[in-house]
Amino acid sequence: MRILVTGAQGCIGSWVVKRLIEGGHEVVTFDVNESLARLEMIAGAETVGKVTRRTGRIEDGAALKKLVRDESIDHIVHLAAVLMPFCQKNPVEGALINVVGTLNVFEAAKEAREQTGRDMRIVYASSSAVWGPPGEYPDQALSEDFPVKPATHYGVFKAANEGNARVYYANDGIPSIGLRPWTVFGVGRDAGLTADPTLAMRALAARQPFTIRITGSMDLQYVRDVADIFIQCLLSGAKGAHVFNLRGEVIEMEALKQLLCELRPEAAQLISIAGNPVPVAFRMDDSALEKVTGPVPRTPLKDAIRETLTQFEQLSTR
Ligand SMILES: NC(=O)c1ccc[n+]([C@@H]2O[C@H](COP(=O)([O-])OP(=O)(O)OC[C@H]3O[C@@H](n4cnc5c(N)ncnc54)[C@H](O)[C@@H]3O)[C@@H](O)[C@H]2O)c1
Repeated sequence: MRILVTGAQGCIGSWVVKRLIEGGHEVVTFDVNESLARLEMIAGAETVGKVTRRTGRIEDGAALKKLVRDESIDHIVHLAAVLMPFCQKNPVEGALINVVGTLNVFEAAKEAREQTGRDMRIVYASSSAVWGPPGEYPDQALSEDFPVKPATHYGVFKAANEGNARVYYANDGIPSIGLRPWTVFGVGRDAGLTADPTLAMRALAARQPFTIRITGSMDLQYVRDVADIFIQCLLSGAKGAHVFNLRGEVIEMEALKQLLCELRPEAAQLISIAGNPVPVAFRMDDSALEKVTGPVPRTPLKDAIRETLTQFEQLSTR
C-alpha cells in the first residue's frame, strides 16, 4: 500500500502523516509548501525523514497524475485546500484549488485505475461548512440526510466536491469517503476562521493574552482523533461514495474559557472572547460513520485540551 497525503504540511495533514508513519505505512506527501515544519514540530525530524516528499500545486492535474503513476499510489488522503477566509476573499482562486484541485485528485486516481487495474481509494476533507446557519434547521442533531445549505463560497466548494465524488463512484468506480470536520484543534492548528480555540491554548501555554474572535458554540474535535478517523476510513475498504459528519464536543466559548481556567487558572486574566458566531449549524449526528468504520476515537474534550496545553508548554521551553 502506497499512501499519498495532499496538504501534508497542514494541521490535519501533519497529524495524518504522523499517525500513518507510526502505523508503519509508506507515505508520500504533497503540498505547495515545501516545508514539513508542522510535522517536525509534532513528530520530530526522524519522522520527517521517513516520508517521500513532493512539492507542487494541486491545480496542476498533469503533475498529480504523474505523481500517482510514478509513486504507484493506491490510497489517497486529500486535504490540500484553502480555508474559509481565503475563499470568501478570493472565490475564483479558491475554486481552482478546492474544487478543480479535488477533481484533479479523482482524475489521477481514475487514470491510475484505468492504466494499471489497481483499486484506488480516496478519503477527502469536506467540511461542516456545507451546513447553513443553525436557524436554517430544526433543533436537533443533523444527520447527513438533511439538505446542505452552505452560506459561504468555501462551503459551496465542499458541497461540490461531495457531488463530484459521488459521480466518480457511479461512473468510474472510485470509492471515496468525505469527512466533514467542524473545528479541529490541537498543536499545528494556526490558520482559518476557527483556529482561535487552539491559538488561545497556545497563548495560554506561553502565558500571553489572547482574544477568541468568535462567540456562540462550536463543535471542537481533537486533531489526533480526526487524523485517526481519516486513517480508519482509508483502511475501511468501504465501497461507495460516502459523506460523513464528524462530531466532537459542542461547547459555548464562555464554557471553553471556564474549562481553560480549570486547567490553567491564569486563563481568567489572559483569555477573552469577542466577535460573532460562525454561521454554521453545530449539532451533528455522526452515527452513520461508525457503521462503516466501527468505533472511532473520542478523547474527552478536557483531556484533549490538557494534552494540547502540555504539548504547547513543552514546545515553548524547547
Ligand atoms: N481545520 C479545521 O477545523 C477544518 C474543518 C473542516 C474542514 N477542514 C478541511 O480539512 C483540510 C485540512 O485542513 P487544515 O486545517 O489542515 O488546513 P491547513 O491550512 O493547515 O492545511 C492545508 C494545506 O493545504 C496546502 N495547500 C493550500 N493550497 C494548496 C495548493 N494550491 N496546492 C497544494 N497544496 C496546497 C497548504 O500549504 C496547507 O499545508 C482542508 O481541506 C480543510 O478545508 C478543516
